[in-house]
Amino acid sequence: MANYIAAIDQGTTSSRCMIFNHAGEPVSSHQLEHEQIYPKPGWVEHDAVEIWSRTEEVIRTAMKKVELSATDIAAIGVTNQRETTVVWDKKTGQPYYNAIVWQDTRTDRICNELMGDVGQDRLREKTGLPLATYFSGPKISWILDNVAGVRQAAERGDALFGTMDSWIIWKLTGVHVTDVTNASRTMLMDLESCDWDDEILELMNIPRQMLPSIRPSSDPEIYGETSTDGPFSGVIPVCGDLGDQQAATVGQTCFDIGEAKNTYGTGCFMLLNTGTEIVQSKNGLLTTPCYKFGNEPTVYALEGSIAIAGAVVQWLRDQLQLIEHAEEIEALAFSVEDNGGMYFVPAFSGLFAPYWKSNARGAIVGMTRYVTRGHFARAALEAVAYQTREILDAMEADSGVKLQALKVDGGMVANELLMQYQAHVLGVPVTRPKVAESTALGAAYAAGLAVEFWKNTAEMRQNWGIDKTWHPSEEDTARTANYRMWKKAVTRTFDWIE
Ligand code: G3P
Repeated sequence: MANYIAAIDQGTTSSRCMIFNHAGEPVSSHQLEHEQIYPKPGWVEHDAVEIWSRTEEVIRTAMKKVELSATDIAAIGVTNQRETTVVWDKKTGQPYYNAIVWQDTRTDRICNELMGDVGQDRLREKTGLPLATYFSGPKISWILDNVAGVRQAAERGDALFGTMDSWIIWKLTGVHVTDVTNASRTMLMDLESCDWDDEILELMNIPRQMLPSIRPSSDPEIYGETSTDGPFSGVIPVCGDLGDQQAATVGQTCFDIGEAKNTYGTGCFMLLNTGTEIVQSKNGLLTTPCYKFGNEPTVYALEGSIAIAGAVVQWLRDQLQLIEHAEEIEALAFSVEDNGGMYFVPAFSGLFAPYWKSNARGAIVGMTRYVTRGHFARAALEAVAYQTREILDAMEADSGVKLQALKVDGGMVANELLMQYQAHVLGVPVTRPKVAESTALGAAYAAGLAVEFWKNTAEMRQNWGIDKTWHPSEEDTARTANYRMWKKAVTRTFDWIE
């Protein structure tokens, strides 16, 4: 009997395999980090071959830990860091170039050119996105124009493009697919038809034959099957695929209009379910598919994307060597009473929502000789909370809905100081579910739904439960004076790159 669903979560810093039972509880998990490659200021790359070998290893280890074999797994779901772009040779399976990561800003010039006389919102109505370095389309153009032989190979039909979901599914099954949520983040997909848009492909000079076919996020027709010589050592249907933020929304069971979640990973991403209606943002948010289950209509979301959240802790650890392990950030932040007047705007990849300024760069302001390592830690954590407040404000302005509580998940929700501060800054309760690995769970749900392991969304809702809620204080300087200073600090980063 196949009593489990496997989820592969290919994230920005690591790859993970998790195995879930019918109650939505993780029974096994294994995770491995991969290298972050920074060839130049503003450039970020991953080695897609390394990512695949890490993925194989986490699958084998997660299965081995609980002594499961392929016959125990009913289906596989894949979820991934979105927008990260890889182009590979379909004959050899070798990438032509490193994967260009979503945080990479090298396409700034390409994006400016694409704006033409119209500006940043030229493609917004069709794609829901502003022209920014974040999205895949211009990254594909860059590879086609800068890596020798790739354009010719693409025109011959030998070069395939994929976001990391496509790469992993192709490696697992040999099938070249993606789902609506991932496809939308290329900036090449029409939100309404959920198909590649020929006009945009022509504008960016991208051959259509290199693109994967766009499928539902949960697909009863299944994308393909694993093989006996792959990491699962057996034949299992692969039938769930969602970008990681959409997967977390599903994992948090935000199936009703007006339900929202915020995931604190490398970046931080808040999604609000807007149902089958496409709501265009007037306040710097993205419009994006949330999920498509089988033949049902696509469900959409408004999204607030923050490029740097957990990545700031990683940066303090790896680049500044302020701490040895990421968890130490909390104790260090607790060693001081407040931020000591210091504000840290980690605009390492420019500013994402609600500003969309690719030419912003990070700034630390308000320092005096009073500040210590503790204040650095504190200011870094506070930055995550203030950025989330900016997104929530934009979301309330766009939707006209006042959020009553925020469901949170992701690695940083283990940080009590951050979660409490977050509640203060927002002025609404912050709720962590029992299974905080919502991203992997959402991918498992998508796959499980396709093979009727779970019959409907009501069954998934029953699995959701609260672990902890943080409540805001009535009056708080975090929400008023500090937030005002944060807004001032953000303006100091604008137009840094000339
Ligand atoms: O859009 C980028 C996002 O998908 C990355 O997610 O979890 O690596 O912060 P994460």
